[in-house]
Amino acid sequence: MGKSAKIEFDGKSYTFPVITGSENEEAIDINQLRSETGLITYDPGYKNTGHCISEITYLDGENGVLRYRGYSVDELCQKKSFLEVAYLLIYGDLPTNLEIQKLQEDIREEALVDEDLKQIFKSFPKSAHPMGVLSSLTSALIAFNPLNETKISLKDSAGTTEKDKMYLSTIRLLAKFPIMSSWTLRKIKGLPLNYSNNNLEYTENIAYMMFAKPNQDYKQNDIIVNALNTLLILHADHEQNCSTSTVRIVGSSYAGLYASISAGISALWGRLHGGANQAVIEMLELIKNDGSDIDKYINKAKDKSDPFRLMGFGHRVYKNFDPRAKIIKKAADQVLNDLGIDDPILEIAKSIEEKALNDEYFIEKKLYPNVDFYSGIIYRALGIPTEMFTVMFALGRIPGWIAQWKEMRDSKNPIGRPRQIYNGPTHRSIS
Ligand code: ACO
Repeated sequence: MGKSAKIEFDGKSYTFPVITGSENEEAIDINQLRSETGLITYDPGYKNTGHCISEITYLDGENGVLRYRGYSVDELCQKKSFLEVAYLLIYGDLPTNLEIQKLQEDIREEALVDEDLKQIFKSFPKSAHPMGVLSSLTSALIAFNPLNETKISLKDSAGTTEKDKMYLSTIRLLAKFPIMSSWTLRKIKGLPLNYSNNNLEYTENIAYMMFAKPNQDYKQNDIIVNALNTLLILHADHEQNCSTSTVRIVGSSYAGLYASISAGISALWGRLHGGANQAVIEMLELIKNDGSDIDKYINKAKDKSDPFRLMGFGHRVYKNFDPRAKIIKKAADQVLNDLGIDDPILEIAKSIEEKALNDEYFIEKKLYPNVDFYSGIIYRALGIPTEMFTVMFALGRIPGWIAQWKEMRDSKNPIGRPRQIYNGPTHRSIS
């Protein structure tokens, strides 16, 4: 007999099974709670709620562990490309040489964006935030790329199956999202829109699409490509965060992959989630322009009557340290050093970290730098404008969202539909 948990309510005792994951995480399975007891659970922000059983990402917030399909992110950053990690997340194992070649070739075949979609892109004002633009364009992709049977004959698939459609949607998203992302960057920088260079590897091509200048020979900068590779891998998945849960819940209604990921992009945009990387740089700029008085801002963050928070600090699940932040901090030092950039903001960030980590408020609340605290400093050094930072996050997160969406669909989970406790007026009549 497995473990179980008892709930006593109204003089009766109910027993519920406890399920255990492969890393010994335990959860009370309350599938039958309402039908047996009439009760529901109340858990704002889903702080204690597991909404799926997943084989994709393991995260131990107390010990600062993060693994994709069993491999530590640290090792993946050192030994693998972002595209190989995307394959790992989506298909469950690291690819063989043949598998990664096929994925890369299939992506190249789809590395175009419809001219009409380009027109929609062009009609956005220059002031539009790139995340809003990308959410719209991603949702619009299906209109320009219906999953018809002829296209699904891609390579060796015989006949149309759900698996073929899933494969084609995946390839298209991996192919087209970097193009659309690079367009948002090029528009901000006043550069002409371009397309893929099919001689380049996936991450190299992202760097090319973003940074190639017209009428100039493009020379690949390995420091930039390696930094992008690390950042994209570190952002590739993070189990059931706000945007991923959004992707899963939208997809659970049988909305398509692009629509679901478009919703995920919107969820990521917020400053409490992926938007924090932009907010961190804005905060560091503010502190610098205000005389670099770090104590003043630490005190503001601690003051309950002040809405100011230390952006890039704190995390729902990491209560020790965010392993991604450790890797990114090291990478930030290295990238700035290799590119010969002296950014005073990096020093301010380091001083804030040092002070906060020795401050009783932050110690007691277990608030540590998260992935967003140092990532913006690297993006800045690469010449990426601040409003593009969350797009870079989304670019990395695409494979994770696809993997999570696919797992949700394959598991045939029911539609996501939480309940509520109603606390409004009881029945009344119009007099
Ligand atoms: N600065 C100051 N105080 C903070 C901070 C912060 N950055 N983060 C949390 N706290 C305090 C809260 O005021 C709260 O104090 P209280 O218990 O006295 O009320 C306590 O720490 C717990 O914080 P919550 O907001 O309840 O924790 P939650 O898990 O809901 O939120 C979150 C986590 C949103 C990340 C929060 O720490 C935050 O707002 N951080 C700043 C934004 C940020 O960096 N977001 C990126 C997260 S990583 C990512 O999504 C990719």
